[in-house]
Amino acid sequence: MKTHLLGYLLALFSVSIMGYSSRRPATDLDATPRTTITYNDLLDVKRFSSNVVNYSALLLEDEKGILYVGARGAIFSLNSSNIAAGTQRTIYWEATPGKQTECLTKGKNNKTECFNHIKLLQRFNETHLYACGTYAFSPLCTYIDDRSFSLPSFFEEGKEKCPYDPSKGYTGLIVDGGLYTATRYEFRSLPDIRRNLYQRSLKTEESPLHWLNDAEFVTSVLVRESVNSIVGDDDKIYYFFTERAGEDSSSFLDKTQVARVARICKSDLGGKKILQRKWTSFLKARLVCSIPYYEVLKSAYALDTGSWDTTTFYGAFILQWRNMEASAICQYSISDVQKAFEGPYMEYQASSRKWSRYNGEVPEPRPGSCITHELRKNGFNSSLDLPNNVLDFLKLHTLMYEEVKPVGEQPLLMKKNVIYTTISVDRVMALDEKQYDVLFIGTGDGWIHKAVVIKSVVHIIEELEVFKNAQPVESLVISKREKSLYVGAQSGVLQLPLSSCNRYISCYDCILARDPYCGWDGETCREIVTEEDRSQMTQDLQSGNRGCLDITAEAPPLQKNRTVLKGDDVLLQCDLNSNLARAEWVVNGTEPLPESEARHRVGVDGLLITDTLPEHNGDYSCYAEENGLQSLVAMYTLNVLLELPKERVDLEPTVIAPPPPDSQTSPDMEFVYISVITILGGLCFVLVTVLLYVSCLQKRKGKYTMGGSRATNVELQTVSANFKEKPEGGLNSGPDGCLQIIPGEAPPSSPNKDAPPLPPPPPPLPSEFTNGITTLPNMLRKMNGNSYMLLGQNEESVSPLYNSFTEELSKFLEKRKRTQLVEQLDESSV
Ligand SMILES: *[C@@H]1O[C@H](CO)[C@@H](O)[C@H](O)[C@H]1NC(C)=O
Ligand SMILES: *[C@@H]1O[C@H](CO)[C@@H](O)[C@H](O)[C@H]1NC(C)=O
Ligand SMILES: *[C@@H]1O[C@H](CO)[C@@H](O)[C@H](O)[C@H]1NC(C)=O
Ligand SMILES: *[C@@H]1O[C@H](CO)[C@@H](O)[C@H](O)[C@H]1NC(C)=O
Ligand SMILES: *[C@@H]1O[C@H](CO)[C@@H](O)[C@H](O)[C@H]1NC(C)=O
Ligand SMILES: *[C@@H]1O[C@H](CO)[C@@H](O)[C@H](O)[C@H]1NC(C)=O
Repeated sequence: MKTHLLGYLLALFSVSIMGYSSRRPATDLDATPRTTITYNDLLDVKRFSSNVVNYSALLLEDEKGILYVGARGAIFSLNSSNIAAGTQRTIYWEATPGKQTECLTKGKNNKTECFNHIKLLQRFNETHLYACGTYAFSPLCTYIDDRSFSLPSFFEEGKEKCPYDPSKGYTGLIVDGGLYTATRYEFRSLPDIRRNLYQRSLKTEESPLHWLNDAEFVTSVLVRESVNSIVGDDDKIYYFFTERAGEDSSSFLDKTQVARVARICKSDLGGKKILQRKWTSFLKARLVCSIPYYEVLKSAYALDTGSWDTTTFYGAFILQWRNMEASAICQYSISDVQKAFEGPYMEYQASSRKWSRYNGEVPEPRPGSCITHELRKNGFNSSLDLPNNVLDFLKLHTLMYEEVKPVGEQPLLMKKNVIYTTISVDRVMALDEKQYDVLFIGTGDGWIHKAVVIKSVVHIIEELEVFKNAQPVESLVISKREKSLYVGAQSGVLQLPLSSCNRYISCYDCILARDPYCGWDGETCREIVTEEDRSQMTQDLQSGNRGCLDITAEAPPLQKNRTVLKGDDVLLQCDLNSNLARAEWVVNGTEPLPESEARHRVGVDGLLITDTLPEHNGDYSCYAEENGLQSLVAMYTLNVLLELPKERVDLEPTVIAPPPPDSQTSPDMEFVYISVITILGGLCFVLVTVLLYVSCLQKRKGKYTMGGSRATNVELQTVSANFKEKPEGGLNSGPDGCLQIIPGEAPPSSPNKDAPPLPPPPPPLPSEFTNGITTLPNMLRKMNGNSYMLLGQNEESVSPLYNSFTEELSKFLEKRKRTQLVEQLDESSV
């Protein structure tokens, strides 16, 4: 039954995707980040971590220059201009051993649950912060004096303000002295939106028609709608969450989830007799991103645009069936949200057990509305004055009929094989004097996607691997003042610059990136805000290919020579630092690659010519083509020899010939020497073996990096924008004897699986006798839903460790061809 249903779902899903592809270009189904910045490229990023884990509650006080961080058992105060400065102040606040034991006896997990996870960290007044922690399943809250920054001796009961279970969806805000929290507080209790620390504490109604149905809260935001309001409106707090759908009778699963937006009015005091100490302004509506697929909301962000009526919400959604990973980003306008709350209500028909549109009469004043001038004029000074019929109606009609649809009625971005966990948005003025929204999106495996919204389409500028060990990005906070993005996760906090324009090394690179923070000043790519005179700067966000006029200004790449024996394979490497670029090869100056040539294979990493013939001699140039622009990336002169020149061959025996024994030494001495040499040799061999093995282990740790490490010159050059050409005939850093293949993508055998002991390397060839293929693929990247191989190599290094390398490479390429085929299938079948 289950598999049957799943098949049905999959079929439906593929139909919808195909439906989309007729309207949008196929690439939009799965946007590709233009560049990939791996962990090793980010080693200089500022990081903070201490001897605790779960750095998930971030509170930025930009004017004070402080970033407060709530972690497990600790609260930190960091200097926001440099969180790694080492000037942090720390409050250790862990649950007492007694509490932890008590927690364990409740059957809780001693590794994660029986600690004090700080869930709330908010400014309370000028001098104090308010913090709540789960305190080993027995929540506590406290006021923290930000000057002394020490653990106070007075604590408040936290059970109405903080969840017991640290993994429950939770959101909390302090607004004008009121603490607004939403979560499932106790172990068995229903989810609830509450207000505490205020003249009147309130909660949601536990009516038979639950106002909240298994809700998992994501975010809450305050929108100051009272500011300059002609109608005397109230400030509102919007809640974003996912809950079980009651109304969706067409659903084929009981547990269909829907995303919601709910709102309450800040001045709500509850009803007098009915809805006493309950919200009288709670209304909720469905938040649609792409029905019926992206229904689980993971994160939402309210972009403050300076005026509340232009507030824009962004939501990150995932699929509700967990065996498929895909995410979508949708954008909503506050006016669309308001329209839904002002529209018709839904009603539950007990007879048919269905929700449907309520078409009857609606009492006055309109149920769920805030107190406005109009209501006050009619004698309703507060919610306490609302008539019973209005409150009775509201009790049963909190769900709105209209759905909140995304701007443009479709997702801005869809991405396969990724779980978006967090989103934060910055609005940036670009050189064209237009405002662009830059999205920073955290993934479930420790990456950040930086994207820009251009004309209702999202262009992913880059993906950054910010954590070495895959872990969900839990919070993202933007500081305009520090031009920084703070990232909170299990292992620590880090501070990334909002832009790193100097990563773009050419004008083309700078323009094609379409980064609103960056412009080309004629010589370098730099942050436009730091530039006083912007008239000389170039940027093209709209089309991303105009403005680089002086093509000759770019230094041409070095011409490299490749000499191979007839019948050998040769790889002419061409590193495209952009994942959106395509390599375009030109032979002998003008001709494109002959199409009929079966021995040519163009891959993401270069041109492979197998079984070379003298006809293959010539000049080869590789152009990167992207968005209509072409730039020269590499040039080679290929020389295919019919046979190895004689003198080279003669050299070989001398390399490995043992030195003649010294006839002067006595037999005794000879024996001693030989023993010592043997022992030393043996030691060396063991050491080398161990070293190689250890270095392999090290290298295998990275998820994407295959055998690339900082120590060797094969490091991640294939994807790094900072790729610097190694001088011709550079030093040989030694063979990179590591190969690791991700399961399922592996060729039948790898030459170095059983690393120690290594086979003795054959004598090195002179440096020009290389075919450019000296190491095995050192990169493997996930893209477009498929892993594919990206080959890297030592530019001029010698030492062909693998005798059967060409076979190995062919296998890889065959494999890759297959994965590319699968990729195409993938477009339509998932
Ligand atoms: C805290 O971090 C640990 C690993 O460091 C993780 O297993 C756990 O799920 C995290 N807990 C929460 C509530 O995030
Ligand atoms: C943060 O560090 C900067 C530079 O070191 C310093 O000028 C500033 O005063 C520090 N801020 C705080 C709040 O300590
Ligand atoms: C947690 O419990 C397990 C099994 O009950 C035990 O082996 C482990 O030592 C405990 N860990 C801690 C930190 O108490
Ligand atoms: C802030 O609140 C704390 C805790 O209630 C109180 O002790 C302190 O006096 C307050 N500070 C100000 C400036 O009101
Ligand atoms: C509402 O407030 C006005 C002025 O403050 C007062 O005159 C009026 O009686 C109040 N109405 C109710 C129903 O309390
Ligand atoms: C390039 O030109 C040379 C001579 O001009 C010719 O021998 C060679 O075959 C050409 N290479 C290719 C690949 O066409």
